[in-house]
Amino acid sequence: MSFHIMGTGSALPRRSVTNDELSAFLETDDEWITTRTGIKSRPVCTTETLDDLAAEAARRALEAAGVTAAELDYIICTTCSAERVTPAEACVVQQAIGATCPAFDVNGACAGYVFALDVADGLFCAGRAERILVVSAEKMSRMADWTDRAICVLFGDGAAATVLGRGGDSPLYLRTTTEGDADVIHSWAPAGNSPFDEVGAARLGEDGTFMQMRGREVFKFAVTHIVSELQLMEKRTGVALSDVDHFVFHQANKRIIDAGVERLGLDPSRVIVTIDHTANVSSACIPLSLDTLARDDALKPGDLVALFGFGSGLVTGTCLLRWQPALA
Ligand code: UT7
Repeated sequence: MSFHIMGTGSALPRRSVTNDELSAFLETDDEWITTRTGIKSRPVCTTETLDDLAAEAARRALEAAGVTAAELDYIICTTCSAERVTPAEACVVQQAIGATCPAFDVNGACAGYVFALDVADGLFCAGRAERILVVSAEKMSRMADWTDRAICVLFGDGAAATVLGRGGDSPLYLRTTTEGDADVIHSWAPAGNSPFDEVGAARLGEDGTFMQMRGREVFKFAVTHIVSELQLMEKRTGVALSDVDHFVFHQANKRIIDAGVERLGLDPSRVIVTIDHTANVSSACIPLSLDTLARDDALKPGDLVALFGFGSGLVTGTCLLRWQPALA
């Protein structure tokens, strides 16, 4: 238990693409997308870059926290869809906001935000930081094949950030898991042109660099783990799920959230749903929901907030936070 969230911020692209717009060039329709996923529209980059969104989300979180860029000890970005292989997106954010601290990326796919909290917790516990900025920034529209209706309708672009300060009750619980499976959701990096590499280009095969996913398998993994991980959290912390004020889940499919709510007997009014207008923004989903709750004034000091993310890896991340933004 080492930190508290001091402030949140987010930034979405100006352009929001509706289901009807997609059906103009794909064999899909609003009814299928809405009933199978809960998505009505998704934010998609047009003139903005991921760097713009990440930096803007960071500035807003710093402003909300009352912290300057110079006061940061680390910047951790979570992303699986950065526009560069190197440098890390966190380095770009560091430059854009005028910070001077170390900055690095974490790729925990859609659970990346919880993985970043895990790393931050370690840095706080080791006494190596007073303030850490976590920025989750994803340009999923770059990874999606826009001719593949099974993939492109599901994703969106955006960034969300939180400033963490040392001291506080959080995390009351944090657990990350990985069940190594590099196939079920994957996206290859571009092949190089090494004349010696006998597998690189061939490996890309028909997939190219676009995201590939076996959706039904991921669906089952998500529903199974949302239930088992939250039950484990309840058992290990002694905090009943009925005492948790807000559930912030990864927004991959409204049906996954609904199945978790039903199987765990959760009060749906305590479960935030943004997927209708954000779609799946990978690791940015959870902090984006936190920022939505914070800006709607829905988070009261002392509130218990449970986070659950899952995704490519296959990974999960579960965390229980106490909301105490006023703590200095
Ligand atoms: O954050 C990363 C983690 N990703 C996820 O969590 C995704 C988890 N999986 C899912 O959310 C769901 O499996 C999907 C939304 C991806 C797919 O929904 P589904 O109910 O599992 O559909 P399905 O893949 O079983 O496909 C059913 C049918 C197929 O047609 P046939 O074979 O039955 O004729 C698909 O070709 O729906 C078809 N289909 C579509 N039809 C209209 C797939 N995509 C579309 C579409 N519009 N966009």
